[in-house]
Amino acid sequence: MRSQIIGTGSYVPEKVLTNADFEKLIETSDQWIVERTGIRERRVAAPDEASSDMAVIAARRALEMAGVRAEDIDLIIVGTISADMPLPSCAAFVQAKLGATNAAAFDIHAACAGSLFAMSIADRFIVSGTYKRVLVIGVELLTRLMDWTDRNTCVLFGDAAGALILGPTTDPKRGLLSTHLHTDGGQAEILSIPGGGARLGTSGETLDARAHFVKMNGREVYKSAVRNLTAVLGEALAANHCTASDLTHLITHQANLRILEAVLARFEIPMEKCWLNLQKYGNTSSASLPMSLDEANRAGRLHAGDLIGMMAIGAGMAWGSAMMRW
Ligand code: ACO
Repeated sequence: MRSQIIGTGSYVPEKVLTNADFEKLIETSDQWIVERTGIRERRVAAPDEASSDMAVIAARRALEMAGVRAEDIDLIIVGTISADMPLPSCAAFVQAKLGATNAAAFDIHAACAGSLFAMSIADRFIVSGTYKRVLVIGVELLTRLMDWTDRNTCVLFGDAAGALILGPTTDPKRGLLSTHLHTDGGQAEILSIPGGGARLGTSGETLDARAHFVKMNGREVYKSAVRNLTAVLGEALAANHCTASDLTHLITHQANLRILEAVLARFEIPMEKCWLNLQKYGNTSSASLPMSLDEANRAGRLHAGDLIGMMAIGAGMAWGSAMMRW
């Protein structure tokens, strides 16, 4: 038995923030942002919107597609680093708002790789026969965790949610074929939010140091992303005894167009195989992969039997890949 995705959904807030808008806020330019990242605009959540609100809309869309009722979900796993509050989990709020009264629910903290890590856990629960219907969500409201005076980071991220419903399949030609996950905590410093945790807590000092916002060494993140995504996609291909040319689609976390171009070039994968939306949404972290899958799915691009490679990397650094027959 394998697990299979039986429903997808996504949500982005209405408010659009373009690169031209940023030109009025900080010293930057549309040309700099587009050339270095490929991003043209991103979405920003409304003041009264929280991560769980966005997650619930994406989840309802996925449930509707799957024809599954909220009370039939056995487990909810939310990949997020921008939960509504530090305690309890974002998944707990999602469970209550959905009315998924029979579901256990918890968050996974693997940053931009969160939804891929969550999908891997969901797969194990289904393959073991423990659960039949698992809701995986990637949701981020990162614009609230940005230092809007730091041009190195604030132009990169956007708010969004993506959701997947996984269930069992006995069709030998379909389903999730493999997942590979990795972490190198030795790279924790290159992308972090140092304040507000149990080490530094919250004080006048941490607030003055703007330690509650995302801090990033962009060049090191870039190098880590290209190196590790290349390795983990290679690992997925080798494990499934296939080559890059066998892939029908590559559905990937989208941080930066240059990172993707570098990885795809190493495998000679044409960019047309990759569902791109970062130009519209920026880096939406853990939402990026399920949202891309949902968009490709709703656009009618995914057909039964297509071989789909997936990959993601984020703070930790944490990264992974998956291979699936649609
Ligand atoms: N507008 C204009 N200038 C800027 C901006 C901006 N928004 N941001 C930085 N600069 C300036 C810098 O201050 C620097 O100026 P200086 O030379 O006077 O000091 C100059 O541009 C060049 O900066 P670099 O850091 O060398 O620029 P680089 O070519 O490395 O591009 C970038 C920066 C885009 C962040 C790149 O390093 C990158 O893509 N890194 C990956 C980061 C990423 O994707 N993170 C997402 C989170 S992790 C994930 O999802 C995988």
